[in-house]
Amino acid sequence: MKKAITKKPVAAKDDATTKKSKKIKIFNRLRGVRDVLFDEYRYWDLVTKKATDLANAYGFKRIDTPVLEKLELYERSSGKTSDIVTKEMYSFVDKSGEKIALRPEATPGLVRAYIEHGMFNLPQPVKMFWLGPAFRHDKPQAGRYRQFNQLNLEMFGEAGPVADAQLILIAYNFFREMQVDVQVQINSIGCKDCRKDYLDKLVKYYKDKTRHSKLCLDCKKRILKNPLRLLDCKEDKCVAMRAEAPQIVDTLCEPCREHFVKVLEYLDDTSINYNLNPFMVRGLDYYNRTVFEILPVEGSTESRQTSLGGGGRYDELVEYMGGRATPACGFGIGVERTILKIKEKNIPLKKEEEADVFLAQLGEASRRRSMILFEELRRAGIKVGQMFTKDSLKIQLEEANRMGVKFSLILGQKELSDGTILIRDMESGVQEVVDLNKAKTEIEKRLNNHIEKK
Ligand code: HAM
Repeated sequence: MKKAITKKPVAAKDDATTKKSKKIKIFNRLRGVRDVLFDEYRYWDLVTKKATDLANAYGFKRIDTPVLEKLELYERSSGKTSDIVTKEMYSFVDKSGEKIALRPEATPGLVRAYIEHGMFNLPQPVKMFWLGPAFRHDKPQAGRYRQFNQLNLEMFGEAGPVADAQLILIAYNFFREMQVDVQVQINSIGCKDCRKDYLDKLVKYYKDKTRHSKLCLDCKKRILKNPLRLLDCKEDKCVAMRAEAPQIVDTLCEPCREHFVKVLEYLDDTSINYNLNPFMVRGLDYYNRTVFEILPVEGSTESRQTSLGGGGRYDELVEYMGGRATPACGFGIGVERTILKIKEKNIPLKKEEEADVFLAQLGEASRRRSMILFEELRRAGIKVGQMFTKDSLKIQLEEANRMGVKFSLILGQKELSDGTILIRDMESGVQEVVDLNKAKTEIEKRLNNHIEKK
């Protein structure tokens, strides 16, 4: 048996060696945040392209807002008692003493932008498409990150139920067209008038002595601060108690009831898979009337309860934030959660052709000439593969094969001094000598012939 060779550590000789051998600290990313590496970007491209295509088709225009906003913006809009504000928001005091938050969701910033830029002067509805990162100090787990990306569609200035239905349809189509089976959970939480009666009934139900003692600690606080959220609790005993709780749809005022019925009628005209969920209330303060969530149909029980998207109406928010009274509705979809679902289903992604031709070179002078030729070909719209950092022709042609190009251009020292270049058909291995100055036209001709033959 061969003896294992073990390297003995070398004793430190002087100061310089000691410093060198000191362990260098390696940095890792923070908990709950992710790097998006090359392969995953293919999924990103797919998801963002689908979102952009749908947004364009339905007339939503791209808008961006800053990651940093005043902390108060979220306290006022998302709600002082919401989980996002009380537990999850990243906030700090900046060097000028201002209280700042890292955006935990897009809607408040979009409402601010609508008001700040006087968008009520534009033809209504104003339809926004937003895509970007959001930050929540959540407990990290699969599909729950501290930095994640959302895509949002928001519609300002349209009160009619057709807007709610259209948004739900777009969100549904987004998933369906990426072959992810989803179900829409939908409910109406009424308006501030009819909700008042409902909340009285709800509080009465939960304040009943036997029930109250069984509530979780959070729900005991919710009774006092935000009773609607009692319905949202995930604790087993609270979920069980909720089954008998009064349902908000039974107390809707006539206009809210009519609005909801109309939304459902529109949905019935489509093939959307939806389910009325009387206990879904959403965790943000600004909603009224229609609220909805998109849940996956497939996967483990836990993953089927993790929403891929959610949204609803927020007709009072613009006015509450200092703007003109403007009805609004929208939704947000989690990009990472969507990608996880696509990956789970093993849907093969179409492979983009990396290059049309490969440009190989041998020797320093040829490399320099090749760099000029590369630019000429690229400007002509030809996708060119290259490995100018490598000297070996074998390695370069192996890369050309991996890329699956039909032709390679080879510029060696002899060709360079003759003013020629080789065109190699990668399938047959046949090589032709052509004039170096005509390389672009010659390769274009062959590529066109190749496309015609296909
Ligand atoms: P949300 O339900 O808090 O709604 O978030 C929408 C989606 O963002 C979720 O369904 C999920 O896919 C994704 N998401 C949320 N938190 C995380 C996380 N920690 N990690 C990964 N993904 C996450 C809103 O944010 C509302 N602003 C949506 C809206 C727009 N309503 C009206 N307009």
